Amino acid sequence: MNTIELTVNKRSVQRAIEPRTSLADMMRDTLDLTGTHLGCEHGVCGACTILVDGVPTRSCITFATSCNGAAVTTIEGLDDDEIATELRAAFTREHALQCGYCTPGMLVSARDLVLRLPEADDKAIRVGMSGNLCRCTGYVGIVRAVKAVIEARRARDIVSEPNAGRTVLGPAGSGHKSCTVSQKLAPAAAIVTETAAIAPLVIPDFTPSTVMEQNFTVAHPPAKVFALFDDIAAVASCLPGAALTGTPRPERVEGAIRVKIGPISANFNGAARVERNDASLAGRIIGIGNDQRSRSTTQGEIRYRLLPEHDGTATRVELAIGYSLTGMLAQVGRSGLVRDLAARLVAEFAGNLDRRLSGDTTSAPSTAADLNGISLLFGLLRARAARLLRRISGRGDAT
Ligand code: FES
Ligand code: FES
Repeated sequence: MNTIELTVNKRSVQRAIEPRTSLADMMRDTLDLTGTHLGCEHGVCGACTILVDGVPTRSCITFATSCNGAAVTTIEGLDDDEIATELRAAFTREHALQCGYCTPGMLVSARDLVLRLPEADDKAIRVGMSGNLCRCTGYVGIVRAVKAVIEARRARDIVSEPNAGRTVLGPAGSGHKSCTVSQKLAPAAAIVTETAAIAPLVIPDFTPSTVMEQNFTVAHPPAKVFALFDDIAAVASCLPGAALTGTPRPERVEGAIRVKIGPISANFNGAARVERNDASLAGRIIGIGNDQRSRSTTQGEIRYRLLPEHDGTATRVELAIGYSLTGMLAQVGRSGLVRDLAARLVAEFAGNLDRRLSGDTTSAPSTAADLNGISLLFGLLRARAARLLRRISGRGDAT
């Protein structure tokens, strides 16, 4: 066994591993970073491509021990990366994936191309991506997606970086041999804290993988409800588990939301962009957040529209909630469960909002309160039992 130390996705890690262990196996088997896929395990298909010291690397044919001291970034470490975020949206838009098996490696290679290519050139993109094989898509959508991101960035005057951060020649991970451990590594806890505090500067648009619609009515006029929606601190205090972590600005807010149901708990830290349209009494909140413990990331979007009811004395609040979840929580966050949870959250939010609009701030939940797992569970069971009864009696929908 050899003990090696790496910086993986900005965290210091130390592992005792066999000299024959590949970097891919180390990521997957000892760090749970299963976004690194294994296809051929012969350095041919590119599914296992990750960044080692910023350079795309076949992790299936790279010995972990040869990377001692290197900085490794897997697909999980690119959750908040600006280029990877743009690429993910473009891949979704251009149908650049089907089964998705090749996609983590594709994104890592594509990101390097986006950094390096001075202009979007079909041939250069095809050559650059030729080390990544896809058995599903036929590549047309992939090339279109990469091209679109390069074009969009160059149009925003973001110039290419010819070497894309490459500083050393030689095999991936080499170039650290003369470093001592103390020179290379900061304490892991400090790095985790620092990472947790990072919120992306740019909150990009994205295409949610799941969208659900919810609505409720409050007995207050639309103008009053819209004014409250402008007070982000007040809105956050109505949302169970939510807390602001910075002073909100009109267009941006930083905060956290804690979700705890039984054994599953997550604390998403992040930031959101806020947009409002006074004329149509509508708005949009687009956020991105990370849960350090489960190494999961969510992007979410809430679109709302306020409609008058009962001659303008009441307001119907229409919400379209979209989200994409990646990381370990995505494996347990089945869409039906998340949908039920969102319905319960919206119901609690509506009640708190109504009380707040009535001037009753004392009954609003304290910020950062955990969700009550028992009441959520009973709520879910009640709703499911009601649906089952409706189905048995032949009435109502079959959802
Ligand atoms: Fe590494 Fe195919 S699994 S190149
Ligand atoms: Fe299936 Fe590429 S999307 S292998």
